[in-house]
Amino acid sequence: MAYQGLLHKYGYLLDLPYYIEPVTLLEGNTPLIKADRLCRELGGGFELFIKYEGLNPTGSFKDRGMTAAVSEALGRGATTVICASTGNTAASAAAYAARAGMKSIVLIPQGKVAAGKLAGAIAYGAQVIQIDGSFDDALTMVIQITNKHPICLVNSINPYRIEGQKTSAFEICDQLDSAPDWLCLPVGNAGNITSYWAGFKQFDEMKSTGLPQVLGVQAAGAAPLVLGHPVEQPETIATAIRIGKPARGEQALQAAEESDGRIIAATDEEILHMQKTLAALEGIWVEPASAAGLAGLASEIMNRTLEAKGKRVVAICTGHGLKDPECALAASGFKPSVVEPTKEAVMAIIGL
Ligand code: F0G
Repeated sequence: MAYQGLLHKYGYLLDLPYYIEPVTLLEGNTPLIKADRLCRELGGGFELFIKYEGLNPTGSFKDRGMTAAVSEALGRGATTVICASTGNTAASAAAYAARAGMKSIVLIPQGKVAAGKLAGAIAYGAQVIQIDGSFDDALTMVIQITNKHPICLVNSINPYRIEGQKTSAFEICDQLDSAPDWLCLPVGNAGNITSYWAGFKQFDEMKSTGLPQVLGVQAAGAAPLVLGHPVEQPETIATAIRIGKPARGEQALQAAEESDGRIIAATDEEILHMQKTLAALEGIWVEPASAAGLAGLASEIMNRTLEAKGKRVVAICTGHGLKDPECALAASGFKPSVVEPTKEAVMAIIGL
């Protein structure tokens, strides 16, 4: 039977109310791509897979949780959804709200949202409100607003977001026939790491698929879970995870501890280097934040603080490179040269 989306495929495993009205863009079912060339670059001797979440309908993993959250909102008769966002949640909420015939309002930190995300939110018809403040400020406001008004909050504080995002752990176990030894992924507001851990635990209880050790990676300039305290002015090129007070920080730390894993930080330099290497060696282009998990893995292997030899490692690449074209162009230093429209001129440039 043709694929009918996540709620159809895995809904029976998700804790969702009876009244949901499914809203889907056929999200999920993303590829798990074996990355042998990158693996060799990292020293080799293990199996590395990329879960390419940038291939979801709006270009990021957020669609997994959004199908669940918006289906619940529609089912109970809500007419408006709202979220704070560094960009991807905004685009996803706007798309699913449009599909459900609902209104969406998104609060974003001014000047810190990548072009592809902002354009998406606008295209899907969201009311976009820029805040002269951080993501954390915006989240505080939407919580206050939804406490008083009947507007549905679709940040990952919403439990149905977590339920929907568990499905990626299910898919990985189905794709590999078991859990991997290590799972590495970026951490921002910490909803995703919370979801993966819940999903792997649930699948293990049902099917004895085992549990991964979890390596969560924050950006060094926005690493409250590594530092052990909130960061008032988070700063990183990986704007998706420019977050100083993660709403599910406690659960992220718990996932790391329970899994015998850890949460570490990667510098912007390491993140950009990995973004470039992944595209160059594997043809997989992701936005900067999405390279953070792999950047953390690389530094752990290099520092010999993680033994990957003989292991199966899955890296979650959360968002597509097209989300942030400006960053990639700026980081590359690319200056297009213009040549005469003759075969000779082109061959001279190529060196033929
Ligand atoms: N990667 C990308 C591409 C993201 O957009 C985010 C979060 C994360 C990783 C981190 O996931 O927050 O569950 O720990 N983006 C949110 C947003 C904050 O508003 O789009 P997390």
